[in-house]
Amino acid sequence: MRRARRREARIYDQRVVMRVIERFQIARRNLWVGLTLAGLLAASGCEVERRRSDAELGLNAQQAAGRKLYDNYCDRCHRPYSSKGKKGPGLKGVFQHQYLSLTGLPANDERVGDIIRYGRPDMPGYSQVLSAQDVQDLLAYLHTL
Ligand code: HEC
Repeated sequence: MRRARRREARIYDQRVVMRVIERFQIARRNLWVGLTLAGLLAASGCEVERRRSDAELGLNAQQAAGRKLYDNYCDRCHRPYSSKGKKGPGLKGVFQHQYLSLTGLPANDERVGDIIRYGRPDMPGYSQVLSAQDVQDLLAYLHTL
């Protein structure tokens, strides 16, 4: 009789231990899930950087007009404030070097103007869409990147 009760007590003890281990494992898994989610959020946080206003960027009227054109025609393929590529290379600092990073063409208004007007492989030309003034405004904005 007593032995049977003792066995029962032992089985009960084992169950308690098992349950504690189970809890611990679930907690550990939750911790990993949490850490993974936090990591993903942190990584995507870099992507969704808040858009800065024209004033914050210190743009004059012409540069701000160029930025609007950029948003309409260029942004879907080129990031303005990153050198990371989209469909085309990022244009951060496009005029800061002597040569364009991808095409190796001289980084001046003439060549970049030509790229905008006539396009490149996989980039449409905009001579039918943008006026000469538009291209000047765009170039003025590109100089601020
Ligand atoms: C459909 C996507 C697309 C659009 C829209 C687009 N581009 Fe491009 N752009 C590209 C690709 C792709 C290249 C690389 C072409 C190559 O291989 O020569 C490129 C190249 C360039 C280059 C040369 C970069 C380098 O490092 O050599 C400049 C400057 C440029 N684009 C500016 C613009 C501007 C300004 C606009 C808006 C008027 C624009 N692009 C719109 C896809 C695009």
